[in-house]
Amino acid sequence: MLTGGGDCPGLNAVIRAVVRKGVNEYGHAIVGFRDGWRGVLENKNTHLTPDNTSGILHQGGTILGSSRTNPFKEERGVERVKETLTAQNIDALVAIGGEDTLGVADKLTSEGVNVVGVPKTIDNDLSATDFTFGFHTAVQICTDAVDRLHSTAASHNRVMVVEVMGRHAGWIAAYSGIAGGADVILVPEEPFDIEEVCNHIRHRHARGRTFSIVVVAEGATPSEESGVVTAAETRDAFGHVRLGGIGVALERQIEERTGFETRATILGHIQRGGSPTAFDRVLATRFGIAAIDAVEERAFGQMVALTGDKIVRVSLNEAVGELKTVDKDLMNVAATFFG
Ligand code: F6P
Repeated sequence: MLTGGGDCPGLNAVIRAVVRKGVNEYGHAIVGFRDGWRGVLENKNTHLTPDNTSGILHQGGTILGSSRTNPFKEERGVERVKETLTAQNIDALVAIGGEDTLGVADKLTSEGVNVVGVPKTIDNDLSATDFTFGFHTAVQICTDAVDRLHSTAASHNRVMVVEVMGRHAGWIAAYSGIAGGADVILVPEEPFDIEEVCNHIRHRHARGRTFSIVVVAEGATPSEESGVVTAAETRDAFGHVRLGGIGVALERQIEERTGFETRATILGHIQRGGSPTAFDRVLATRFGIAAIDAVEERAFGQMVALTGDKIVRVSLNEAVGELKTVDKDLMNVAATFFG
């Protein structure tokens, strides 16, 4: 088993569930690789037992560590993965990750490796599952932040811009914005017109409101400019730049254009830290159980997923084919409360 990509609350719940059922019911021996695919490349592992995975259900992060290592970008990457699996006598790999980690899992499946995927990301942007675990916790953290920003915004008659995560999809922004009663929500799916944003705020203030809350996903872009605002230009092994800064850019623009005092808050990795919510603990546990069931039934090349209230299996290939973006209906719900 390995956990790859950005960490998220609930990873430990999956690990615990895979080990508990795998060992106690199926009699499997379970090895955890350190730091995502890097641990498989370098054969860095630890033996996982019900005892050493006990008491981790509520803990954030991952006891296995994580990385954004991509074996397909490493010299002899695939061979080294296979060598490690042979050396450790591994029959099947449970890969817990988002689009990148599961993309590797899918490619390894084509290379003859037995893999079962578990979908994880706070971004909730995997199309084959209704929800990924970690998302609910991130939304709760952002909603709490928006609630807190309301009172200080009101005290100072300010516009508060809250930047949340969401590289390609604005699920966190949309959910936390709706839950927190945001006056404007900006997502990567719909490039925004800065003048329109300012008009919403002016309109609201003209109606007697003294403050406004703008929730913006880090991947949101102004329509007149090309490209996202980045915190660093360097790319990771999957080709992603480090996002961040659209909130500060908006702060400046809104203040200049409207004359209303504006402040930006970037929630950053606070959204990924700490304890998972009860919902994420349950979803992660169900995914873990379903993953080890899939291993036992040798249903390889599959990812476990949530459809309605059922846990199902979908092919990894289908799962990584397309990103799930925020739909218009949800944005229309949010827009009812803008301006
Ligand atoms: O993919 C999850 C995510 O949290 C994105 O929302 C964000 O853009 C990215 O990871 C941040 O990555 P890192 O932790 O490597 O800075």
